[in-house]
Amino acid sequence: MRSAHIRGWGKFVPPQVMTNQDLARFVETDDEWIRTRTGIAERRVAGKTDTTLTMAVKAAREALRVADFDSTQVELVIVATATPDRVFPATACMVQDELGAEHAAAFDLSAGCSGFVYALSVASTMLKAGAANNALVIGSDALTHILDWTDRNTCVLFGDGAGAFLLQATEEPGGILSFELGSDGSGGDLLTGPMVGNTYEPAVGANLSHDFIFMNGRAVFRFATRIMGLAAERTIQKAGLTSDDIDLFIPHQANVRIIEAAARHLKLPMEKVYVNIHRYGNTSAASIPVACCEAVEEGRLHPGDRIVMVGFGAGLTWGAVTVQWEPMPKQLQPREVRVARRWLRHQKARATHLRHKLGHRAGEVVDTGTAVIEKQRKRHGER
Ligand code: UT7
Repeated sequence: MRSAHIRGWGKFVPPQVMTNQDLARFVETDDEWIRTRTGIAERRVAGKTDTTLTMAVKAAREALRVADFDSTQVELVIVATATPDRVFPATACMVQDELGAEHAAAFDLSAGCSGFVYALSVASTMLKAGAANNALVIGSDALTHILDWTDRNTCVLFGDGAGAFLLQATEEPGGILSFELGSDGSGGDLLTGPMVGNTYEPAVGANLSHDFIFMNGRAVFRFATRIMGLAAERTIQKAGLTSDDIDLFIPHQANVRIIEAAARHLKLPMEKVYVNIHRYGNTSAASIPVACCEAVEEGRLHPGDRIVMVGFGAGLTWGAVTVQWEPMPKQLQPREVRVARRWLRHQKARATHLRHKLGHRAGEVVDTGTAVIEKQRKRHGER
């Protein structure tokens, strides 16, 4: 039976740090309130240098490097984001182009802060079904670009960043064991982003912002404290496990009090819970993969460990996934050969990209896709 394994992981956070004290200089808040109510001490801000796309590309490159995987062999790119650079083209397509992932299908997925878990579930299902052999799953968000910096209810909570996994289908057991996804659109007005053109307005209730994030914090808090534990419990059960079997719990980093409530529900000691919200705040779709990368860096993940990742967010949505963390498979060729071949393939892909770009600009009929489909036919032995 095919399974989907996480073979590579990468993160990127912008270098600019904004502390609670920095915020308190221009909005009515203070370090003490933010720390005690949320656990956040500082966050990263993309500013003008980084965007959802640039952060996604940097995180993806790192995931490919860790997996020792060639971008030209990637078959699927999914970017979970609530802040795409543009409504279209999909950020995933721009990532595909930047990486030279010339054989990849690419699309964005919008499920708020649950987006990464949703994307992981979609990718693993496609891999297990044989629809693709590997996938780059990326969570990238630049929420500070859509914050109202005068609204203390929201501007203290969010930060920017990106995280990526390279998933590979294999016959080995383990990898993504189970997932649990859900939504309740009746709570959509509780957490909204900027509108595009003419938009639905609720007849009653919230006075939604047109240009920025709006949030009913208390209501989202109540929803989150309940759903995180429940969703995690369901995916653990579906994997045929109990919470005693879980080695590390990696929750969406929105509020340390919400994380503690979920851990209590699962009867997990906090030593088994990964928390880095103090460094980054809530980075939306990036928060879980960034946390996972840091757990690896800190030596908190070992081969064979069972982990649960769980998110919740705008929609309202929630998602949880149980994973058996496996080591890298043995590589058949020496590293130098693999690196050299990868470099050559990448140069070829960049040359194709340039040829197509110039052709498109010159108004030529560019044979986009034909060569890719031909290669795929050959690979699958079709005529
Ligand atoms: O990824 C999903 C996205 N969102 C979330 O997960 C957020 C979920 N919600 C929360 O994390 C919490 O509800 C918040 C952190 C947003 C707020 O914490 P709270 O303990 O629920 O505070 P509150 O909204 O009940 O507000 C308490 C007081 C209020 O003052 P009054 O009315 O009691 O006088 C607020 O005006 O704190 C005030 N307040 C602030 N004070 C200083 C609200 N924001 C701030 C602030 N600094 N930044």
